[in-house]
Amino acid sequence: MAKRIYFGLAPVLLILSACVSNGAASTDAPDASISQKSAALADRFQADLQGQLMAAMQQGGAAGAIAVCHEVAPAIAQSLSDESGAQIRRIALKQRNPSALAQGDMRQKLEELAASPLGPDGKPASVRWTSGAGKSARVHYLRAIPMKEQPCAACHGTNVAPDVQARIQELYPDDRATGFRSGELRGAIAISWPARGRP
Ligand code: HEC
Repeated sequence: MAKRIYFGLAPVLLILSACVSNGAASTDAPDASISQKSAALADRFQADLQGQLMAAMQQGGAAGAIAVCHEVAPAIAQSLSDESGAQIRRIALKQRNPSALAQGDMRQKLEELAASPLGPDGKPASVRWTSGAGKSARVHYLRAIPMKEQPCAACHGTNVAPDVQARIQELYPDDRATGFRSGELRGAIAISWPARGRP
């Protein structure tokens, strides 16, 4: 597997490179393990992002942390995608980053998750399906990201502070991702695999 190094993203990659070689993303795995591989990637995405978000909030408060989230979230998604051969991103019905807007069958599945963001075990629900056929077939995995009071409400809640709101508007003039209440679906991690391992 070609491991790429991006010098410009040193802070993100220093953290990521510590866990790059855990073998979570082997090729040609049996279909049943796609859910497991996806869940492991989703866990890492969230742990990495949450770690950086909390550190940034402690340093610069929520307003300062927005810029960090703006850069770090897409960088983590890209890095995990490069490593695994899957396409990894975050999607939403009401989006902040314009490219997160869920469309087509993604949107339909996300609406299902919005109806019940938690599974029977009390953990974020997930859904898996296959689209296309032959060479263009892909296996998709979505895992719900439920809204929480801490730390999410500062930037996605019903009562976002004016300085935070101003910063959001600067970076995301078409933001639709405030006004969420705890337990609602905020979005999902979407992971799409080529159906037969990596090309
Ligand atoms: C410091 C402010 C801040 C906090 C706190 C925060 N977010 Fe975000 N969130 C953002 C920003 C900024 C983006 C857009 C990032 C990007 O450009 O990819 C975002 C994007 C997202 C997205 C991707 C979909 C979209 O709308 O772009 C999800 C899902 C999400 N946040 C969930 C959460 C959850 C759940 C929490 C609490 C654990 C949380 N966020 C806490 C600022 C924040």
